Amino acid sequence: MTDRNKALFAEHTGLAAILERARLLATDFHAGLAERPVAAAARTAPGLPLPERGLGALRALDLFERHVAPNLSGGVGPRYLGYVTGGATPAALAGDWLAAAVDQNPASPGDSIAPALIEETVAMMAALFDLPTGPGGFDGCFTTGALGANLLGAASFREWAGRRSGLNVTETGVAALSGLQVFTASPHITMLKVMGLLGLGRSSLMQIGRLPGREAMDVAALEAALAASDARSKVVVASAGIVSTGDFEDLNAIADICEKHDAWLHVDGAFGLFARCSPRFADLAAGVERADSITTDGHKWLNVPYDCGLFLTRHMDLLEASMRLTAAYLETDDPAPSYNNRGVESSSRFRALPVWMALQAYGRDGVREMVETSCDLAASLGRRIEAMDGFELLAPVRLNIVLFRGLLGDDAASDQGQRHLMNAINATGNVYLTPGVIGGRAGMRAAFSNWMTTDADVAIVADALALGRDSILAEKE
Ligand SMILES: Cc1ncc(COP(=O)(O)O)c(C=O)c1O
Repeated sequence: MTDRNKALFAEHTGLAAILERARLLATDFHAGLAERPVAAAARTAPGLPLPERGLGALRALDLFERHVAPNLSGGVGPRYLGYVTGGATPAALAGDWLAAAVDQNPASPGDSIAPALIEETVAMMAALFDLPTGPGGFDGCFTTGALGANLLGAASFREWAGRRSGLNVTETGVAALSGLQVFTASPHITMLKVMGLLGLGRSSLMQIGRLPGREAMDVAALEAALAASDARSKVVVASAGIVSTGDFEDLNAIADICEKHDAWLHVDGAFGLFARCSPRFADLAAGVERADSITTDGHKWLNVPYDCGLFLTRHMDLLEASMRLTAAYLETDDPAPSYNNRGVESSSRFRALPVWMALQAYGRDGVREMVETSCDLAASLGRRIEAMDGFELLAPVRLNIVLFRGLLGDDAASDQGQRHLMNAINATGNVYLTPGVIGGRAGMRAAFSNWMTTDADVAIVADALALGRDSILAEKE
């Protein structure tokens, strides 16, 4: 055995001590979230060279503690309200650690329980969203995120359109594909990226009008556009939860139109699908069960660590035709699905495990409570903003997102003015907001999806808004 191998084996013998130190660093990080500035001030890398001789895991952990940990964001904590950012519940975090520790490659069956557990977890997620499974119902797979799920949706409808034109697009390429038209009103930006990646073209999405003052699709405009189109294969990309405001489209009306025009319906419910977990909000996402394919994810509202998306489809044959990966060395007699025939990756991490753990630990009730609490907190911040000087809501709070802007003189309406105010609010270190816009009016968003957030946090956020506003006013004097 070489000296190097001996050193690595010695590390393995000392694994318990290394993991214990990692555990302490992780629990310290979580315990310090309340004091940690929500966004880190120092964002440059430590600049350490590649060591010629390794330092060992414990020394590497020292370096993490000194150079990395102090400059991390509180993204996993309760007042990181940017984008749509979930945290990590204890069970999901433990599941994620175990996924790394057992380091399965669940892509192909034949050597472990992992592919069967993915299958079971996908079915549990479908049940959580009250979606049908079994013949004709939904099946799916985990992805890197909602972008990954949108990509599988687009690959599936591309395959579908090809077949309708007598083409095998996966084999022969998109060049010969014509007669596919995709209609959408407020697609998430990842859908545009996906259209580009799949050779369908970012600009080929046909923009449908929105309802006045809303982000949601005007279904009458959709009906007219589909009726006027002579495309052989029509696809509608609809939204259950639009990122700027949390607005929803009328999915039942859209599904009716899709049925009438024989169109594929893909619904992006990256976070909004979770509305179906609460009887108070389920109506918002009614009709999604009629979709052909659905995007959602775990790393937002389910509070599973990154990365974890979920794609659900009624057309597994099309997904598998598009993602097929066969080779003699991958063959197996095991009846469990081969997930390298379903997702983009060949090898992948055991993403289902943290989800399975979270669902076992908290159940349907726990997820419902998480969703309802986020929505209640968003509503509470919305009420505070309405009552505050210097701010106004840009949209009603429908679910978990508050879109608002500052009213601070001449530059209030400009993107730059809003960005300046948002930066001043974020500079308090007590909250992290990201920009938002509706109907050309710029503002900032607070998206609630972290399981830890409480009323006390909303009070701290409201104080941060007032501090940010006052600092801008003081600059103007
Ligand atoms: C509706 C919607 N779709 C897709 C995405 C992209 O998600 P991800 O970053 O997981 O790819 C988001 C992110 O916020 C989203 O809100």
